[in-house]
Amino acid sequence: MPDDNNSNPLERLAAMLDDDMRATNGVIIRRMQSPVELIPQLATYLIAAGGKRIRPLLTLAATHIYGGDLKHAQKLAASVEFIHTATLLHDDVVDESLERRGKEAANLVFGNQASVLVGDFLFSRAFELMTECENIQILKILSNASAIITEGEVLQLSAAGNINTSMDDYIQIITSKTAALFAAACEVGPVLAGAEQTQAKAMHDYGHYMGIAFQIADDALDYSSDRETLGKVIGDDFREGKITAPILLALKNADAAESEFWARTLVKGEQNDTDLKTAQDILNKHDSINGSLALAQEYADKAQLALEKIPESPLRALLHDLVPYTIFRKA
Ligand code: IPE
Ligand code: IPE
Ligand code: MG
Ligand code: MG
Repeated sequence: MPDDNNSNPLERLAAMLDDDMRATNGVIIRRMQSPVELIPQLATYLIAAGGKRIRPLLTLAATHIYGGDLKHAQKLAASVEFIHTATLLHDDVVDESLERRGKEAANLVFGNQASVLVGDFLFSRAFELMTECENIQILKILSNASAIITEGEVLQLSAAGNINTSMDDYIQIITSKTAALFAAACEVGPVLAGAEQTQAKAMHDYGHYMGIAFQIADDALDYSSDRETLGKVIGDDFREGKITAPILLALKNADAAESEFWARTLVKGEQNDTDLKTAQDILNKHDSINGSLALAQEYADKAQLALEKIPESPLRALLHDLVPYTIFRKA
């Protein structure tokens, strides 16, 4: 097991779980097959582009910690990645995104219809894989998370352009659309191993808080990163009028001219070519990116606190180190 201390915590986790992750990738490749050629073609396009595989790694790590069945864990890890991939296919249609994982988004290459349908296929495959573990509690956890993700996406859609969105509303949206899957990915590990309820709760809480931190950081990156590094187009959230953490912090301190700017660009959706740059300048003026990362840090601290309830091990230490990485990551 290679374990290079110079690499980032995600790479170290991947190295530690290399055998299981390879097996999981095998499940992913096998289960995205279909005689209908467009399905594996489109799915391969997105899946082969990479992605961090953070959610399946969490499932594998959580299973290892409690000594659960690894064959089942690999299926669940694949299932979790399929749910994630399906939501990305759908999300890029909804967000009209141009780029994903450093490549032209699938919706541009294959069209919206194919993206939505292949997303549906991957969701269904995810459910097939879950049932193969023959564990009702696991089925409940993952199916519930899937419903909640969609609720979060719909809630976000309803809140777009609504400048009265509160920080609590925002946290509720990202808890649903992102943290629910992180929490479920972690919780199925101890459940698969038949661990105590308090352990399942601790792993759930770890994933939940880390998922919130992860999405806040993502929302900061949407304004502060660049296309090349992130592999996604910058400013999608601004264009869609999404009221995310950096915007909420800037709105709180807005002067009259800034309020007018936000009302025009986010509420009315009237934007010209220089508005994203102006938005970034206003966010910088109010230190809203750092403010967002500080908010993410509050949730990161809670994630690390939740970990204290689980048995000490090298994997727990890695999960601990993974938390700050989710905030300070570049992509
Ligand atoms: C992207 O998730 C969607 C969000 C929840 C922000 P990731 O950043 O985990 O995407 P990949 O799988 O690494 O591409
Ligand atoms: C990704 O959300 C989809 C889900 C979390 C379900 P975003 O729209 O915020 O993320 P990116 O920027 O497209 O990856
Ligand atoms: Mg999106
Ligand atoms: Mg989205």
